[in-house]
Amino acid sequence: MSGMPEMYPLARDRAESHRQVLNEQHKVLVDFVEGPIDQSVPLENISAIADVATGTGIWLWDVKKLLDKHAGESERSFHGFDISAAQFPPALEGIHLSVQDVFQPFPTEHHNRYDLVNVRLLVTAFPESEYQKAVNNLLTILKPGGYLQWVEIDFSELATDHPRASPVTDTWLKFCEITNISQRAPGVIQSAYQNAGLLNIVNRPFSPRNRQDLLERIQKWQTGFYTSVMPLILLKTRNVADSDAANKRAAEILRDLQLYYAEGNVVDTRFGDSSAPEPIVDDPSAQHAPAQLDFGADAAELALAANRIAGIDLPTRHLDR
Ligand SMILES: C[S@@+](CC[C@H](N)C(=O)[O-])C[C@H]1O[C@@H](n2cnc3c(N)ncnc32)[C@H](O)[C@@H]1O
Repeated sequence: MSGMPEMYPLARDRAESHRQVLNEQHKVLVDFVEGPIDQSVPLENISAIADVATGTGIWLWDVKKLLDKHAGESERSFHGFDISAAQFPPALEGIHLSVQDVFQPFPTEHHNRYDLVNVRLLVTAFPESEYQKAVNNLLTILKPGGYLQWVEIDFSELATDHPRASPVTDTWLKFCEITNISQRAPGVIQSAYQNAGLLNIVNRPFSPRNRQDLLERIQKWQTGFYTSVMPLILLKTRNVADSDAANKRAAEILRDLQLYYAEGNVVDTRFGDSSAPEPIVDDPSAQHAPAQLDFGADAAELALAANRIAGIDLPTRHLDR
């Protein structure tokens, strides 16, 4: 292991900087979860692809290249949806992007359209109680027989007694408790799939503890994440009195985290990949019908906080809850 992981550099242009963070993060995560598409998904059957909460569209861009290479060049359509266009790149050839909240009904032209619907990293966007609504809505755009894939962070094994890491992990877990961010999102997603009638669900857990080959890259990703959230979550969890104290304490505990990493350790931030095909039913009216969703104001506030995973500002309203 060489030295300590670098902090994310501050770029002059914030939007561009956020895009770079998301794109860098994508590369690590794809290696961590062993590819952008789960191995249970038959690539040769995939011609219409959607990515919901797409951010920069980087997952779609990679998948486009992957499918051309491994399933042959053919006419495929790619569509990215996100609640905000802020991270959309200026243009990605062959990829359509549009603004769409995962909780709002999709426009009818998207219903029953996609062979693969992907979701990744929405864990901080809404409370644990909302996953079922999201899954039900995602199923409205999936073709019968098409696959839903959701890759999400699992904080259930994050806690540690190690004095150099526990200030970081304890503060984050406390923040999750206060804001109802799920600490076991992959399990919640699996239950939501089951409740929605999905069968043949494949769940794959991924722990950084088994990935010596990726250790430094995962440490760097974790450093970027905890560096960007720490002052804010110290304030929210009432560990400190004001912003100055938050910055000071954050610097101390992040320094300790670097010493923990320098010993070859990594924080056990896990991932889970839940993939399942939508059953093909004889009666088309029994297929998932688009529903009007009753989406609470609290969850709307939390939605913007998904950006935090990529080092993007948590909205203040979220912190005032
Ligand atoms: C951490 S980023 C992940 C982006 C992308 N999925 C990736 O893995 O690179 C979270 C994204 O979720 C989007 N988001 C948050 N709440 C959403 C919602 N309710 N509906 C759709 N997108 C949402 C944010 O705008 C942000 O682009």
